Amino acid sequence: MNAAAAAAATPAARKDRLLEVSGVSVSFDGFKAINNLSFSIGKAELRAVIGPNGAGKTTFMDIVTGKTRPDEGRVIWGDRSISLLRMNEAKIAQAGVGRKFQRPTVFEDQSVFDNLLMALRNARSAWSVLFYRPTDEDRARVVTLAEEIGLDSQLARKSGELSHGQKQWLEIGMLLAQEPQLLLVDEPAAGMTPAEREHTTDILKEAAKTRAVVVVEHDMEFVRRLECKVTVLHEGSVLAEGSLDHVTKNEQVIEVYLGR
Ligand SMILES: Nc1ncnc2c1ncn2[C@@H]1O[C@H](COP(=O)(O)OP(=O)(O)O)[C@@H](O)[C@H]1O
Ligand SMILES: [Mg+2]
Repeated sequence: MNAAAAAAATPAARKDRLLEVSGVSVSFDGFKAINNLSFSIGKAELRAVIGPNGAGKTTFMDIVTGKTRPDEGRVIWGDRSISLLRMNEAKIAQAGVGRKFQRPTVFEDQSVFDNLLMALRNARSAWSVLFYRPTDEDRARVVTLAEEIGLDSQLARKSGELSHGQKQWLEIGMLLAQEPQLLLVDEPAAGMTPAEREHTTDILKEAAKTRAVVVVEHDMEFVRRLECKVTVLHEGSVLAEGSLDHVTKNEQVIEVYLGR
């Protein structure tokens, strides 16, 4: 790239960037779980984060969501370059960071429709929750969300009757109801059937068309199907980054996965 092209590309790249983590480290009892980590993601980007157990993948999500405070480094968010490190977990969620945990937290006694409606209501401000009456628009939005997660034929069903995979999708739908700009998903494929895994990749790919989505996943078939850039973490740092084919040819990555 020549100098003019570089100058033109830089501001655009900045503008499209949603999250920028740089030089972040955190130690637990002297053990560096995250070690000078740098990571950035664009506004409508899907990214897979892989790496062996203990690489720091979950801790990375804990830092972005404000659950864990790093010892050093920066975590910069959005067009106004706000530091997430000065915000608590609730404020970070309000700013547009949604996180899906492994265990679904759907209300089992409620229907799929009501779970989605509650998530939509909770996305509103505190005072409107008190006086909340669903409008036709809200009901239509619930149906759209159900379509996005492939549960539009299950709206009347009790959530407790859903399969493990369907509950996971419902929870993704409940997060999407809050319209996060960044969705963090930790090991979604665990416990899913192959067909459920396939459907989950479709949901995440679709969601990433209008927001940033970061997916931590061990299942390489799942990661391949995401068809996105991959970041390999190892010992709390980025070991390699690029297409899955690119990173799996990296000798350091091969060493880490196959042992020395
Ligand atoms: N709250 C904590 N207290 C102490 N050690 C922790 C804590 N969270 C994570 N760790 C340690 O940090 C390392 C990275 O963990 P984690 O982020 O869970 O890895 P991954 O998700 O990649 O498997 C592990 O060695 C883990 O034991
Ligand atoms: Mg983990």
